[in-house]
Amino acid sequence: MELFLVAYEARGLLVSVGLAVYLVYKVWVYRRLSAFKGPFSSGWSETWNSATTVSNNAHVKHKEVCDKYGPISRIGPNDLITDSMELVTHMSAARSPYTRTVWFARATRTKPGEDHLFSETNESVHTRRRQQMALGYSGKENLELEGTIDVYIGKLIHLIRSKYLSTPELAQPFDFGKKVQYLAVDVINAIGLGVPLGDLDTDSDQYRYIETTEVGFKIGKMALALGLLPVIQSPWVMRLLAPLGEDGLRFGWPLRHARARIDERLQQETETRSDMLASFVRHGLTRDQLVNESMLQLIAGSDTTSTSIRALFLYLLTHRRVYATLQAEVDAAVADGTAPPAPGVISEAGARSLPYLQACIKEGMRIRPPAGALVPKRVPDGGDTVLMDGKPVFLSGGTNIGVSMFALQLNKGIFGDDAEEFRPERWLVEKDEKKLATMHRVHELIFGYGKYQCLGKSIALMEVNKAVFELVRNFDMSLARPDKPWEEENSLGVFTQRNMLVTAIDRLGDVKS
Ligand code: HEM
Ligand SMILES: *[C@@H]1O[C@H](CO)[C@@H](O)[C@H](O)[C@H]1NC(C)=O
Ligand SMILES: *[C@@H]1O[C@H](CO)[C@@H](O)[C@H](O)[C@H]1NC(C)=O
Repeated sequence: MELFLVAYEARGLLVSVGLAVYLVYKVWVYRRLSAFKGPFSSGWSETWNSATTVSNNAHVKHKEVCDKYGPISRIGPNDLITDSMELVTHMSAARSPYTRTVWFARATRTKPGEDHLFSETNESVHTRRRQQMALGYSGKENLELEGTIDVYIGKLIHLIRSKYLSTPELAQPFDFGKKVQYLAVDVINAIGLGVPLGDLDTDSDQYRYIETTEVGFKIGKMALALGLLPVIQSPWVMRLLAPLGEDGLRFGWPLRHARARIDERLQQETETRSDMLASFVRHGLTRDQLVNESMLQLIAGSDTTSTSIRALFLYLLTHRRVYATLQAEVDAAVADGTAPPAPGVISEAGARSLPYLQACIKEGMRIRPPAGALVPKRVPDGGDTVLMDGKPVFLSGGTNIGVSMFALQLNKGIFGDDAEEFRPERWLVEKDEKKLATMHRVHELIFGYGKYQCLGKSIALMEVNKAVFELVRNFDMSLARPDKPWEEENSLGVFTQRNMLVTAIDRLGDVKS
């Protein structure tokens, strides 16, 4: 009692001491990274960082910071951002002591307390899991991959041709972005779980899966920005949220669905199949691990791939010269037998042999990197010294360093003065071999690098190649609302683009697909 009285008497002093300790701490935090410049107040508070995270265009703001403050800038008391190729490759190199940061990785969990490859911060667990999964992700132990993707490309073309064609008599705009998302969701479910959701067949968001993940991303970004992740991911809150969805379909549904499909598969003979699940099982993944990893595939593999296709078409449909050149290459490939007659679907190898198609796909991903996340890495304890523009720079241990993929891919020093313009020819006509080699190396970073590089890269590229070729072969497309081509939102680097209305005119008339 007496103690409280004394404390009460001395409250002024206590508050002053508390304030002083707080200020000393703030100054210490501020000074640790004071060599790096950034937006006003970012050295003292999380306000800028949080406001940017919840905004719909964090990628634009991150790029502005890098353009203004240099290759390593400060966006929070403990947070840096970079657009340096050297630093990105240094942090993610195979034996680098940098790790994923816990706070960001946690935000990508699909269920509290359960990790998948992307959220796993224990390096030895992560390395082993990657080894177990690499072959299933590659075509080597997944022989059904290409045929499966062909089926869904065929369904996409069929859906547009049977329901959404425009003619000189009647224009019928439709949301191209949504149809492409149906493709991506069906493909990832078909190759990851062995069954599609049926979005393309039914022309709808089956089980409201897309809607659910979009809400999930929004909750995730608010929680990350406000520091509420531990609260939101407590089993307690999850239980409160669960009944929110009518018919109990939402939130818990994707997980229940994955678990049920995997249990079905595990009861069947996996030896006779040569798909992704069979490969993972052969390499020792348990049922629980399969469930966690399949959830990651669904969130990592659908929005990224559909964003790639939407963004490329946004630029194709606004650059007539490029569209015409691409269409001529596609038609020539059909004429000379590189592609089978419609409704056949071009092979991966066939698409890869078309230089202008490859240049367009590269340029589309460069001008709009489909994954805009910071994917921050943590500087090892004890700190690290790196060379930046020839000068040594010290990075304090425990600092988070994120990447601005937009600043990196639109960098004028690397891609030239017209770096911000869409010009696929840059990949074909560049005479300076050293510059071209650097451009290719920087471009590869869109999928991450080294020990964290995207495992779904070849799957994504196969899907994008086939989709772009077949859409261009089959239809003449136009933007129906050129003044407002789409509504875009960035949640933790995952993009959703809604209402991308296009019209499609049939180019092949007599094909029955
Ligand atoms: C254009 C499409 C895609 C892009 C641009 C992309 C990009 C990325 C990036 C930047 C990372 C993180 C790298 C880091 O932490 O530094 C990543 C990780 C990952 N991605 Fe993708 N991705 C795409 C499509 C896919 C698809 C289709 C799948 C699945 C089929 C997939 C599965 C994964 C997995 C499993 C990881 C985690 C790798 C690890 O932690 O070791 N991605 N991706
Ligand atoms: C990482 O996981 C391994 C194997 O499960 C374990 O032995 C090790 O202690 C973990 N490391 C850390 C830093 O938690
Ligand atoms: C995967 O899920 C199970 C439960 O469903 C959990 O016990 C496990 O820790 C999770 N994480 C990993 C890396 O297996």
